[in-house]
Amino acid sequence: MNIGFIGIGKIATAVIEGLCSSEIEGAKLRISPRNEENSVRLAAKYLTVTRMESNQEVLDHSEIIVLALRPPQAEEVLRNLKFRKEHLIVSLIPLIKHDDLAAMTAPAGKVCRAIPLPPVVNHNCPIPLFNAPEIVVDIFNNLGQPLMVIDENQLHAIWTLTCLITPYYDLLQELSIWTTDHGVDKTIANQYIANLFQALSYTAQIADPIEFDELAKHAATPNGMNEQAGKAIRADGAHSAYREAADRILERFPKEL
Ligand SMILES: NC(=O)c1ccc[n+]([C@@H]2O[C@H](COP(=O)([O-])OP(=O)(O)OC[C@H]3O[C@@H](n4cnc5c(N)ncnc54)[C@H](OP(=O)(O)O)[C@@H]3O)[C@@H](O)[C@H]2O)c1
Repeated sequence: MNIGFIGIGKIATAVIEGLCSSEIEGAKLRISPRNEENSVRLAAKYLTVTRMESNQEVLDHSEIIVLALRPPQAEEVLRNLKFRKEHLIVSLIPLIKHDDLAAMTAPAGKVCRAIPLPPVVNHNCPIPLFNAPEIVVDIFNNLGQPLMVIDENQLHAIWTLTCLITPYYDLLQELSIWTTDHGVDKTIANQYIANLFQALSYTAQIADPIEFDELAKHAATPNGMNEQAGKAIRADGAHSAYREAADRILERFPKEL
C-alpha cells in the first residue's frame, strides 16, 4: 500500500509520525518535498518514508493520496497535477466540499474527507470521516477512533468543534494561573489540572449512552460547590461565548446545496 502526502505541514507530519510509530503493516509513505524541513526530517527518521522530487512524483508512486494543503493553496496546486482513475483521495482540507474536490482531482475514482488532529501522534484521537471506504477506515484505525459522519453539513459542524483546542488549553492555562496565584506549585497545579480534565472526559467517554447533562447534575450536590460554580459560570455568559464562537466558525464552511 503506497500512501502519498501532498503538503507536509503540521497535520501531515502528525499523521506520518503516528502511522510510522503504529502497527500498520506494509505501508510505504511517499511525501511531497514541501515543507522542506519537515519532509527531510521525516524521510531521514523513517525507512518507510520517501521524500519525492515533486507533487506529481508523489501521485505517480501512490494509490492513496492524502491532501494536507491550506484551503487557499489547494485549488491551484491540485489543478496542476495529473490524477489517475485508481487514486483514492483523502482530503484533510476543511473548506472544500467533496464535489469540488472530485472536480479538482478528476479522474480520481474516489474522494473522502477526514479530520485527524495532532493527538494522532499518540494514536488516540477521534477521527471523523466522510465517504471513507474500508481501507481508509483501516488506516485511521492505527491513529485513533474513526467516526463515520453521513453528510457534509454534519462533518462541518463537527469540524467547527476542532476550533476549540486553543480555547480549551487557554482555559486550562487560566486555571493554572489562578491555582499558582493561590500558592500551589506550578508542576503540581498543571499535573492536577491535566489529569482532572482527562479523568472527567474518560468518565464521559466510557458512559453508555454519553449524557453530559446527567454527569453535570450528578456532580451538582444541592447547595454544594459544583452547583454554585456551574450557575455562576453560566450566568456570566461563558457558555454563550462558546456557542457564538462556534456559530461564527461554522459560517466559514460551504453550505449544502
Ligand atoms: N493542523 C491541524 O491540526 C489540522 C487538522 C485537520 C485538518 N487540517 C487542515 O489540513 C491542512 C494543512 O494544515 P496544517 O496545519 O498542516 O498547515 P501547514 O502547517 O501550513 O501545512 C501546509 C503545508 O502545505 C505546504 N505547501 C504549500 N504549497 C505547497 C505546494 N505547492 N506543494 C506542496 N506543499 C505545499 C506548505 O509548505 P511550505 O511550508 O513550504 O509553504 C506546508 O508544509 C489545512 O487545510 C488545515 O485546515 C489541519
